[in-house]
Amino acid sequence: MAPSPPLDPARIPRHIAIIMDGNGRWAQSHKLLRTLGHKAGVDSVLDIVRASRLLGVEALTLYAFSTENWQRPASEVTALMGLLKTFLIRELDDLTQNNIRLQAIGQLEALPVEVREALAQAIGVSAANTGMVFTLALSYGSRGEIAGAVRQIVRRCLQGELSVDDITPELISAHLDTRDLPDPDLIIRTGGESRLSNFLLWQASYAEIYITDTHWPDFREPQLKLAISDYQRRQRRFGRTGDQVVSQVG
Ligand code: IPE
Ligand code: IPE
Ligand code: MG
Repeated sequence: MAPSPPLDPARIPRHIAIIMDGNGRWAQSHKLLRTLGHKAGVDSVLDIVRASRLLGVEALTLYAFSTENWQRPASEVTALMGLLKTFLIRELDDLTQNNIRLQAIGQLEALPVEVREALAQAIGVSAANTGMVFTLALSYGSRGEIAGAVRQIVRRCLQGELSVDDITPELISAHLDTRDLPDPDLIIRTGGESRLSNFLLWQASYAEIYITDTHWPDFREPQLKLAISDYQRRQRRFGRTGDQVVSQVG
């Protein structure tokens, strides 16, 4: 793989969100069971967390399990939950030593109790860390998240705490699971599919999207740097003209 051009440290995306796809196909191409693809994917998680922290990324969000993924065969779901639990227990020291704060978004109550316990422990121990926010999207679905926000807002309106006219995009953002995070600047999807699969639909409004055919177990620091370098070559216009953006920067 060709080395990526040097990155501009002043233009590292604040928030990178990744759809970690392709574990099953990676395993298939190595004539391994799908679960071994997920196991190999854990090594990529470790590498990408470490590399992101060193690059100065403020927030990293990894889509690890969708609400739709509950429909997979029970044996695969059990294997994924086991890997998640082991990851949380085994990597806790390393996360805290690197000043990383862990949090989770999604329908966490649907997770097995032992995963919830390991998660609560890791979130609690790392709560005061200030280096990078590492968010795991677990049993996460964006439509479910938005429906939850609508329910909360309607309840507050009915209780007289809010009026219907208070409902703005900012208010909706403040009722999502991601309320403490900036919107993602860069969304990466590995495994080559061109879809969001119910990930951060609201928050992705102006994200730059980068899709690579590389399967998640093969996605490591060099591939992350390539994605960031691609991001840094883009002009983010937010509806304005290119000339307006250039004159504002210059
Ligand atoms: C992503 O890899 C991991 C999860 C969705 C949990 P996949 O398991 O979807 O891999 P492919 O898409 O079948 O290759
Ligand atoms: C998206 O991958 C979910 C995660 C990476 C956790 P999927 O493999 O589930 O997505 P689809 O089903 O191909 O859209
Ligand atoms: Mg997939």
